[in-house]
Formats: sequence, structure tokens, C-alpha cells
Amino acid sequence: MYKHIFNSVLLAIIGTSSFAQHAPTIIPIETRQNVLVLQTDKDNHLGITYFGKKLSQPTEYKLILSQSRQLDGNAGIYNSAYTPAGTWNVSEPALQVTHGDGNKSLDLIYVSHNTAKENDNVSLTSIVLKDPVYAVEVTLFYKTYFQENVVEQWSVIKSEEKKPVTLEKYASANLYFIAKDYYLTHYNGTWAKEMNPEEEQLTAGIRVLDSKLGTRANLYQPPTFSLSFDKPATETEGKVLLGTLAWSGNFKMEFEVDSYHNLRLLAGINPYASEYPLASKQEFKTPSFIYTFSENGKGEASRNLHNWARKYRILDGEGTRMTLLNNWEATYFDFNENKLSELFKDGKKLGVDLFLLDDGWFANKYPRNSDGSGLGDWQENVKKLPNGIGYLVKEAQKTGIKFGIWVEPEMVNPKSELYEKHPDWVIKQPQRPEHYMRNQLPLDLSNPEVQDFVYGILDKLFTENPDIAYIKWDCNATTFNPYSAYLEKSKQAQSKLYVDYVKGLYKVLEKLRAKYPKVLMMLCSGGGGRVDYEALKYFTEFWPSDNTDPLERIFMQWEYSYFFPSIALSAHVTDWGKQPLKFRTDVAMMGRLGYDIVVSHLNEKDLQFSQQAVAHYNAVKDVIFQGDLFRLVDPKKNDYAALMYATKSKSKAVLFAYLVGNRNGDGSDTPIRLEGLDASKNYKVKELNLYPGTKSAIREDQVYSGEYLMTAGFNPVVNARRTSVVIEIEAM
Ligand code: GLA
Repeated sequence: MYKHIFNSVLLAIIGTSSFAQHAPTIIPIETRQNVLVLQTDKDNHLGITYFGKKLSQPTEYKLILSQSRQLDGNAGIYNSAYTPAGTWNVSEPALQVTHGDGNKSLDLIYVSHNTAKENDNVSLTSIVLKDPVYAVEVTLFYKTYFQENVVEQWSVIKSEEKKPVTLEKYASANLYFIAKDYYLTHYNGTWAKEMNPEEEQLTAGIRVLDSKLGTRANLYQPPTFSLSFDKPATETEGKVLLGTLAWSGNFKMEFEVDSYHNLRLLAGINPYASEYPLASKQEFKTPSFIYTFSENGKGEASRNLHNWARKYRILDGEGTRMTLLNNWEATYFDFNENKLSELFKDGKKLGVDLFLLDDGWFANKYPRNSDGSGLGDWQENVKKLPNGIGYLVKEAQKTGIKFGIWVEPEMVNPKSELYEKHPDWVIKQPQRPEHYMRNQLPLDLSNPEVQDFVYGILDKLFTENPDIAYIKWDCNATTFNPYSAYLEKSKQAQSKLYVDYVKGLYKVLEKLRAKYPKVLMMLCSGGGGRVDYEALKYFTEFWPSDNTDPLERIFMQWEYSYFFPSIALSAHVTDWGKQPLKFRTDVAMMGRLGYDIVVSHLNEKDLQFSQQAVAHYNAVKDVIFQGDLFRLVDPKKNDYAALMYATKSKSKAVLFAYLVGNRNGDGSDTPIRLEGLDASKNYKVKELNLYPGTKSAIREDQVYSGEYLMTAGFNPVVNARRTSVVIEIEAM
């Protein structure tokens, strides 16, 4: 503290002249296991000197700079903690501006820093940097979650220039890593093919992960990655960072291996077509870049993120979730009140908590009988639902089941009354042909009127039907032809659209949550087209993919599980894929379980199995939602997959195993070493979800020590005759 006042005073006295010989300011950003060390150089530029495992003697951090030829001397050129553009720096910038007078140079000099403790676990360090010539100031924020080893980083950019400054590029985080080699795992995909991982060794130059899709921003790529240092990390070994940007729009992550073979990372909003004007005294807050680091592999790193997300991020992350029956694949757009009433009964018979009415319930002039019309006209379709939603909620309740409903409030079909009434609310280029995805266009959420309209859809539903217990919020189109009539009319820059859309969306969600804080809400975007930790402040779960083929889901859910805990992941039993009902159910149990099948088509045994499965699920779902996840056998490298969840107290665990390839039909012919148990406890095992008439291959009278299960291992006996197995492990 004193040192920082001293440095600030010193800086004020001597400015930044090269003869200034003063002690550097060292700012360690610490969590339980890790540290990010920031340090000023002789010119008071802030650099990163160290990232990794924490040292027990913090006084030794000051030795790092003098030990490193790469960081000294030329310091600051590469390792800047927030690289400005247009002055001494010639590498890829974090912040690039055009000043009010048209000048494009920026320098950022350390001014002061402060650490405030929010509570025993959470601290916020803020570091003020200033341009000595122009009135531009940046505050870097590092929020640390000590126990969870998670850092949330963002920046606030402020201008006191008289004329507006234009932000050309404005990253959330700028990090610097020193290692032998770097291995990046990133994800690609498209509709129904989300989260395909690719791992590559980074070589000199810049590797970019980005999105320019606007709405449904993650359709081809999510803003999440893992980065291994020295060598590729495994589940249990290696240095690895998991990173993700909390932003539901265009993002850009740059990984630059520099001339010293060190790695520069820049992460933030994609500056593509998004120059952002900043008026005098205005602030721009970037989204959060969230990361965790582990020296012990991806398993520990992902458990860090899960612990953090449940406690601090996902809405009601430490609560519970409801099982449900959805009608999308059972009926598509073809339903009426009678059909739905039957489905309520089916849901009740199955034993689920809630019925979710999907797309197709609204619009009259252009009825929503296909995805070609009606989107935007949120009045009940009188032919299908003559008695309205209120009647359905009551009918469901009479049957003993709660009611939830699908909306896609950000979008419009050109064939709709909304489009006819408010063409200026639609994002489209006035002079060019419209271009659609799924026959629809996004509404212009930069427009406050549109924000009110979107909020109003939900507010009306809840006001008229306070018992609605669940919302599925969809978003099925990307943004083509970005242009806002509102920005034009209000004389604002068109380049604000991508950013202001997302800000508008958050405004709506913020207002909605202020009034309806608890209602369960699923984040869906034609599958996993929008999954990030800013949206998950408002949503209780997300829909990972429309692809519910259980074989595909094993792989997809495996990858999502590096970043998101299972309580946030919706998984439904459907008719996708060729696997038997038991297999489909066992896979869906690794998330928030739901059904999207025609229950009346189930034969007696299937129904009996499903009823038991729902009951079993209810008995173990807390372990799945709140327990530690261990990915034991990787389906990408083996004929089978195995994962387990164990409670923090190590008293209960659930093991899932699935055959994913049976060239040999072997499956698990050796035991799997379990994890997360207490070596000194004794456990009994029990097979769950046995299909009626089949016997378990597991001896349930055997008692095992935790040590045995974690050292010698346990064989769930998954093979061509037992393609999926669920085992409950309970301490005695
Ligand atoms: C999207 C969703 C589906 C379903 C349909 C309805 O594709 O991902 O689950 O809700 O919309 O039109």
C-alpha cells in the first residue's frame, strides 16, 4: 500500500523520464494455487513477468525480471499487461484508439493500484493506467476467486478528451506466458455438430479464434479454449489454462507466439466492424475474460471452473433443476389443446416435474405452423389454443405437472404482423435484399423500444400466468446485413450495432431477472449457438445441441464439461440415434434430464424402465449437479467412455460408462481407477437403471475400500451386451 502511494507520488514528481531510477511496482494477483505477477519497468509501463504456480515467498517475485533477458531490456514490447497501439509498441494491441483530433497514438503508464477484499474469498485488484499526453485512462480489473483458483479480468476505458474518442480495438485481457511449447485446444462446429475439439501446437505468428456472426455467435466456434504449457495436458497431469469470454456476441481471441517463443494472449469483443465512439467522461467496460490454471491437468482445472460457476455465476447454480417432458420432437408445430392435455398426462405418468410447450403456440394472421411465419406475433394461436396459455397452465397443474414455454423473442419472420408494423425494428440493410437464416431476422436490440418489446413478451406471459415455471429462450439466426435504423435515426454510428445489440440483450435480461429472479430459464440458440458465462448470469441452464443422438452427446457433453458444470447442461431422451432407450436415458442423466419422445409409443417395459429412471435420477441428481466430475476414460481414445461424479464429502458417487465403438466388442475388460473417493472409507456399489428383466453383472454384496477402488479399480462391465452402465457408489 505504502509502496504504491510512494510510487504514484514519485511518478507525479519525476514523470516518466528515462533517468527515473525507482523501485519497480510489483502486483501479484493471487489465488490459492496460482499467481499472475505484474511489474512496472523503468518507464512505468506495466508488464507481466510471471504466470503460474504461486511462490511461498512473494518477495522473490522481484527476482524474476532480473533473471530474464527476454523481459528486461526490450521489456514491454511483448509482455505488456495491456498493450497500447501507435507508440513504442509494435505488436498486436489490446487497446487501439483514435483521439478526438484524429491522432492514433496511445501510451499507457502505470499510475496506481488498489486491492479491495469483497469477502474472505473474493478480491478485486484495480490498476489505473494513463496516457501521459491524451486524456485517456484505462483501469484493469482482476477479480480473484481464491479457493476456486479463478480469475475474472476486464478493463474499463475512459476518456476525458473534449471530442469523442473512437475505440478501434478494446480487449478484455492481455496475458503473457513463458513456456517451452504451447498446445491450444479449440472447438469448431455448426448446427447439431457442436464442440468438436482440435488440439494444435502453436507456432510463430498469430492464431485467431473468432466470431462475426452477431446473434447466435457461437454457431461455428465458442469463446472457450484450453491451453497446455510445455506439453499437452491430460486429465490428471500437466499445466493447463481453461479460458472463456463472458460475452454473447462477436469475440476475438489471439494467440501470438512471439520472437522469444513466449505466448501473448489477447481476448475480447471482436473489433470487426465495431469501432466504438466514446464521448467525453464516458466509460466503456469490456466483458470479462475468465480463466483458471492448474498444474495437475484438465480435470482439476475444470473442477475449478465448475466450483466457481455454481457458486458465483450460473443463476441458482447451487440450487436444483426440474425434469421435464418437451413436445418439440413429439409434435413439432402440430398440436392443439386436447393433444397437449394428453401430453401433460404422459408427463405425469413418466414422473417428470414439468411440461415444456415448444414452438408453434402463437400468431394468428400468419399462424406459426412452420418456421416460415408468425415469429414476432406473440399472441396465442386461437385455432390451436382457443382458451389460451392460462388454460394450459391450469390443465397441467390439474394433472399434477408444472408448465413451461418456448419463446424466441429476439427474432422475426418477414411473414408476420410485427414485421409489417415495425420494419424499422428489424436488422437489415435498407438497400439490399434480405438474407435469412431459418426464414427469420434478428430484431434491433440496440433500440430501446425493441428492448421494451422483448421484455414485454416475457412480462406479459408471467403477469398473465404467474405459475409459468420454465422458459426456453431460443435464438435461431445469425446477423446478416448488419444495419440499425434506430442508430441511423438517433445519429449514432452504425459500428455500435454488434456491441449495443448484446448490451441491449443484457438490459432486457437484467430487468427481467429483477422482477422474476427465480424462474428456470434455458439458454438455447438452435442448439449450442450461444453459450457463455455472461448469459448464464441470467439463465439456469443451456441447450448444448439439437443433436440428441446419445453417442454424439457423449462426446459433446464431454467437451462442454471442461467449461460448464452438469447442472447447467440440458440433456433430453429423444428418438435420435440408434441406441436403445436405456443408453439414451443413461446419457441424458449426465445433465438436467428431460424427455422429448411420444410417451404413449413406449411399450410396457420401456415405460416401466423410464419411470424407474426418473426416480433413480431424482435420488442421485444432486451428486451430478453439485459433485466433482472426473472424466475417467476418454471416448476419443477408447472403445468406451467413463465418467464419475462424487460428492465433496466423498460419501456418494455415480459412475457412468458407455460403449462408443465396438470393433472388438471388448468394452471395459480391465478395471477403471476411480477418483474422488476417500481411501479410508468403505463403499458398496449398486447398479442403477437396469432394464426390466435384465440382471446386473456387478456383485452388489461386495464391499470395497476407497483405496481399492482408486488403486486397483472397478470394472463396470460395459461391453456389446451391456452398452451403458450406471453405478451408484455409496459410503457405508
Ligand atoms: C430450435 C431449438 C429446438 C426447437 C426449435 C423450435 O431449433 O434448438 O430445440 O425449440 O428451435 O423451432
